[in-house]
Amino acid sequence: MTIDEDHDSIRAIRWEDGRLCLLDQRRLPFEEHYLYLDDAAGVAAAIRDMVVRGAPAIGISAAYGVVLAARRRQAQAPGDWRGLLDADIRVLAAARPTAVNLFWALERMQGCLAAAGVDSGAALLEEARRIHAQDIDANHRMGEHGAGLIQAGAAVLTHCNTGSLATGGYGTALGVIRSAWKAGKLTGVYAGETRPWLQGARLTAWELTRDRIPVTLITDSAAALLMHRERVQWVIVGADRVTANGDVINKIGTYNLAINCRHHGINFMVAAPCSTLDFSLASGQAVEIEERGADEVLTLGGERIAAPGAMAWNPAFDVTPAELVDYLVTEQGAIGAPDAEKLAALRPLG
Ligand code: MRU
Repeated sequence: MTIDEDHDSIRAIRWEDGRLCLLDQRRLPFEEHYLYLDDAAGVAAAIRDMVVRGAPAIGISAAYGVVLAARRRQAQAPGDWRGLLDADIRVLAAARPTAVNLFWALERMQGCLAAAGVDSGAALLEEARRIHAQDIDANHRMGEHGAGLIQAGAAVLTHCNTGSLATGGYGTALGVIRSAWKAGKLTGVYAGETRPWLQGARLTAWELTRDRIPVTLITDSAAALLMHRERVQWVIVGADRVTANGDVINKIGTYNLAINCRHHGINFMVAAPCSTLDFSLASGQAVEIEERGADEVLTLGGERIAAPGAMAWNPAFDVTPAELVDYLVTEQGAIGAPDAEKLAALRPLG
């Protein structure tokens, strides 16, 4: 894998000496600490606890988790290890519910195992590496397609972290922003801080400043004024799942941004690889929205900030109806006003 040093220096997932190496995103932006994992339970815990997050990154990590599990099971029960692997795959699948890339990657690994011959351990590693490399390639393609829509002199707002940290590398929405920045089209990049986990303030701001793309943070509640003052022409976000009708499930707050965009006549773009499309669900209403612990809202940096006795509701994602999406960008191109018919015309993933 070659890394273009030009505004693209970060790779948070690596396969090193037979182990999965993950940049611990809970410690960013102040510490760059890597965790080395050698079993499926460790990978599932890393996904659940947000060491690694972002839909494609979760899927890629789970794929390497299957490789680790297969090695362990083979050593444990050389004749009968394939059956034992199902339990590990269930553990990985239970790590987080909303990002479809997790289930997509596990299905790909299961398909690979079913088709593999005697050397299935090597085939599984090859498949995980392929999933990883294909994701980076898809991000570069999306970057080109998305940047092609943006007029020179535009400023953009993004939400959560959709960059190299959230993917195999380069990023989805942040990949479009990288490409548009490299093309000299952007006058500014704004990032919402993304309460409660602060992916925008901690991760996107770290990633962009490190890659020499200036970024201005706003509180999530400043977005409407930013649009009203015409300081941005585009909002560009990623997705954890896009259902057959084009509904977009993404980080909580995305729906607010889409409504605000429509009100202010601002373009709303979703960049998501085809591995994020879920044709099995007709609409976003059927998607399980992860609810995380109340302490993420009631505390900040480990200190309680809410009045004693207050409770909290903490959905991690929301559903943006397809009719609020101006463009859906995949590696296959840009779709204006996405709907079921246009999505169905996409080529299946090879
Ligand atoms: O809870 P997270 O940090 O895993 O949520 C991530 C997002 O919502 C991203 O926008 C999404 O995964 C698309 S990014 C490639």
